[in-house]
Amino acid sequence: MKALITAGGRATRLRPITHTTNKHLIPLANKPMIFYAIEKIAEAGVTEIGININIGDKEIQQAVGSGDHWGVKITYIEQSGGPRGLAHIVKNAKDFLGDDSFIFYLGDNIILGSIKRFVEKFNNDHLNALLAFAKVPDPERFGVPEIRDGKVIKIEEKPSQPKSNLAQTGIYIYDHNIMDAVENIPPSARGEYEISDANTYLIDKGFNVGYEEITGWWKDTGKPEDLLEGNQLILRDLAEKEKEADIAPGVTIQGKVRVEKGSYIGGKSLIRGPVIIGKNCVIQDSYIGPYTSIGDNVRITNTEIENSIILERAEIKCGKRIVDSLVGHSSIITASGDSLPWGHKLIVGDNSVVEL
Ligand code: G1P
Repeated sequence: MKALITAGGRATRLRPITHTTNKHLIPLANKPMIFYAIEKIAEAGVTEIGININIGDKEIQQAVGSGDHWGVKITYIEQSGGPRGLAHIVKNAKDFLGDDSFIFYLGDNIILGSIKRFVEKFNNDHLNALLAFAKVPDPERFGVPEIRDGKVIKIEEKPSQPKSNLAQTGIYIYDHNIMDAVENIPPSARGEYEISDANTYLIDKGFNVGYEEITGWWKDTGKPEDLLEGNQLILRDLAEKEKEADIAPGVTIQGKVRVEKGSYIGGKSLIRGPVIIGKNCVIQDSYIGPYTSIGDNVRITNTEIENSIILERAEIKCGKRIVDSLVGHSSIITASGDSLPWGHKLIVGDNSVVEL
């Protein structure tokens, strides 16, 4: 069995971060999102992985590399013609996939727990396709299955009247018959080749399409609040490592806190976990509260931060309380009283969101 991970697309809902960073490289608990997908696949025993990327993209390759790190072999596949839907990604990977079965894994989906049992069910039940569903409060945002007598009879993409409270998640397993489906479905009203239509095609042709429910946590990280929730969930399971940083005597550390090499925490700082602080950071006279991930080389002075993701090289010294925020690489947040005239002075990128 092989695996195909998606790592292309435009991620417009995560702008402005995604103007300069591929969404799949946004870190959760200081680890790029796509690494979690690779880990789950490697853990399920699959070692040949194709990653679908945008045409000309070098960023993903630079960050992920050959796969040696996980003991897998990674092939990069450019999506010819640009983003044209998930079924098109499968079709575009035909040469890589050959006649093998494969796990199709959307690189922006985060799940807790293993995907091994899905692979086992696919093999044991001799399925042509296995879909993973999860109960959600807002099925209209997803592909939604209609289930009758324990069998999936149809998947509808983003229906206004969902036939169940289940979402088709971003984890699928297929045998070679999916190629027939992705080559024969027409584009949808939004102009994309939908994976939901390919799944319905398989069902209509009488193939054996099974499903499993993800009972643990699953998230499609399309929006900033989803990223923050994903970050929380991963931090909750954070294994506390020895603190390799320089921590001054006046600092209080509470709960699960991981601080990496070369970082310094000083003054009257309070760090209340779960919190992860990357390498070579300086935290001075600040409160870093639960569910915060701070990337490498960040400097924080005289500020309170909670439930936030701060990317590498950001500098924050504003004397304010920052919550539920996503701060991009090399951003600077300072106090408006530091220079005249007094007032909020902003350089805000396109599609930014600022709450003052
Ligand atoms: C895609 C699929 C949808 C599925 C979702 C899971 O949606 O089209 O069926 O439920 O992924 O993450 P999209 O992220 O393209 O809106």
